[in-house]
Amino acid sequence: MKHEVIEKNATLLLIFSLLVVTIGGIVQIVPLFYLQNTIEKVEGMRPYTPLELAGRNIYIREGCYTCHSQMIRPFRDEVERYGHYSLAAESQYDHPFQWGSKRTGPDLARVGGRYSDDWQREHLANPRNVVPESVMPGYAYLYDKEIDPKGFGKHLAALNLTVNNGNGDMYSAEAVENAEADMVAQATDGGDITGRYPKSQARNYDGDPRLTEMDALVAYLQMLGTLVDTSTFKADMSR
Ligand code: HEC
Repeated sequence: MKHEVIEKNATLLLIFSLLVVTIGGIVQIVPLFYLQNTIEKVEGMRPYTPLELAGRNIYIREGCYTCHSQMIRPFRDEVERYGHYSLAAESQYDHPFQWGSKRTGPDLARVGGRYSDDWQREHLANPRNVVPESVMPGYAYLYDKEIDPKGFGKHLAALNLTVNNGNGDMYSAEAVENAEADMVAQATDGGDITGRYPKSQARNYDGDPRLTEMDALVAYLQMLGTLVDTSTFKADMSR
């Protein structure tokens, strides 16, 4: 048998193995270069508001992703529990993404609007207050950590450098310029920044007149999964 030659010669076996793996790799990877876009087009996605972005930074800083994922997989049990499976477009402004690989707690991709601000605050301060059996740590100190919005526009400008979806900048010059004012407005009852950020919700999230990290984190949690109307989304099976 000719195969015996390869089996008895380690170098030859190695060379042929590498060859097979290379061909397999090319077949999988090359088509991706010819796709115009791997992200489906959906209505409603927009970059984070400055307040949501500040909340997201706290989420990352506190390591919430070590226990929570933000990606609902397209399986029946997940969809029934968390809602429509996550779309690639829903993470297009995430840098870095927060899909996560560990679920000590539930997936948070669509947690926005599921609970009241009161519940979110109470839960973050001490999860056992609302879910007695919870193993999640408390983050009560966020109430007292004030945020200074000064210079936040630079953060948006920096994101413009890292995230380019092929449609130009993520944040307009106007958004960068108004970042500080927008952050304060969104944490204020009656503030309205929907002109620049459609579907953004503005209110005093933590019930404290100061602008705190609690405001930002709750604002972030309350917007997760609320931008895209998934009931109108039709999967394009042609690709
Ligand atoms: C040690 C793991 C752990 C960490 C770290 C953690 N959580 Fe949790 N989280 C859980 C568990 C377990 C639950 C489910 C029990 C409960 O509701 O408290 C949960 C529940 C939640 C819920 C309610 C979700 C739902 O659908 O009911 C939210 C919101 C949440 N966590 C946000 C956060 C945020 C924000 C952070 C970071 C500041 C964080 N968690 C950090 C473990 C964790």
